[in-house]
Amino acid sequence: MGKLIVGNWKMNGLGPALVEAQAVAAGLGGLPGDRLGNSGVRVGLCPPATLVERLARCLAGSSVLVGGQDCHAEASGAFTGDVSAEMLSEAGAVLVILGHSERRSGYGETDALVASKVEAALRAGLEPIICVGETLAEREAGRAVAVVSTQVRGSLPQVLAGRPFALAYEPVWAIGTGLTPTTAQIEEIHAAVRAEMSAVLGAPGAQAPILYGGSVKPGNAAEILSVSEVGGALVGGASLKSADFLGIIAGAG
Ligand code: PGA
Repeated sequence: MGKLIVGNWKMNGLGPALVEAQAVAAGLGGLPGDRLGNSGVRVGLCPPATLVERLARCLAGSSVLVGGQDCHAEASGAFTGDVSAEMLSEAGAVLVILGHSERRSGYGETDALVASKVEAALRAGLEPIICVGETLAEREAGRAVAVVSTQVRGSLPQVLAGRPFALAYEPVWAIGTGLTPTTAQIEEIHAAVRAEMSAVLGAPGAQAPILYGGSVKPGNAAEILSVSEVGGALVGGASLKSADFLGIIAGAG
């Protein structure tokens, strides 16, 4: 199956940033056809909520998927400042990142809350990208596999079985730091994540892609994406510049 490469702009981007997304779409058009389509690379961009609708409009007709970075578990209601999955979908999103470590640590999101957001995403027809990952202290204590396995078990509701989704392994200590795990460390965690997904969801858990995220750059993308069970990448900083993001996508071919 083709790799899934998703850019997470985080809280970056005003209107002028849309030209970077258009450059990504134009760059994909220049890739050989066998790299795209059913057997090729799928590419997504998740801008701030304020840009989702504009991005979807300016990418209409391109192969780039648009996504949100979070959603509320409810469809509507008295939740000041929040955005629902239905709202993202109406704005043109087809993906949504859920349980990113910046949400888990900054807003106290638990596995149970992430699981309820996953249900909301499915209800609205969005494809969730569910993030897990250990802190440096957890890794140094030899608990990385245990922590990540527990997060996978708690964050994946049963209704995911048979629905399109992706898991993203993002070690907290690798996000925005320039540090990356060794390929052996990535392989170990991805294997554990795969086993846990299969245990929770049965056969469908063996299908969904497991992305790696954390300081993915053009220079390390091809090596990381060639690791067993790495089904794509979730890219933060390097997705803000079209040249860097296209360089990463080129490593997925
Ligand atoms: P980074 O972020 O690529 O800037 O390390 C990854 C992420 O947070 O998804």
